[in-house]
Amino acid sequence: MTGTSQPPQGGDTQGPAEGPTRRELVDYMLGGAFVLTGAATLYPALNYLVPPESGEAETSSVVLPFSAEELQPDSGRIFKFGNQPGIALKTPQGEIRAFDARCSHLSCIVQYASEQHRIMCACHMGWYDLTGRNVAGPPPRPLTAFTVNLRKRKGSDGTEIVVSRA
Ligand code: FES
Repeated sequence: MTGTSQPPQGGDTQGPAEGPTRRELVDYMLGGAFVLTGAATLYPALNYLVPPESGEAETSSVVLPFSAEELQPDSGRIFKFGNQPGIALKTPQGEIRAFDARCSHLSCIVQYASEQHRIMCACHMGWYDLTGRNVAGPPPRPLTAFTVNLRKRKGSDGTEIVVSRA
């Protein structure tokens, strides 16, 4: 009898289960890495497929960067309504109107076609009349109309065009 205790020999001696084994720890870490890799791969893909709502999209009213006088009769111009495109046009009779510029078919940006006195979508040759009504081609619905208000520009000549959601 020596009276001294011997340290455990070798690395495989294990006492009663006090926690996860080395193998379980490795399994947990591999499982966690697998989940994180999956999330890191899926998140950008889901973000692309379902874009998050932007605060700018909630814009309810904008003052256009051009005046009513600068908008020529029988013409149209694209403007930004929050982070979306809008189109303002002046009819041959001089009335100013504004619409969401995204085509109701597949959301291409429409343009004013002065020769036809209509709004066209060049993606698949969709046509709208000057009230925004879909009249030819694949667009299934009219353009979304905005409300247009004109007001005297502060401190200068000219008329501001204020466009808001109807
Ligand atoms: S996206 Fe406009 S006609 Fe198809």
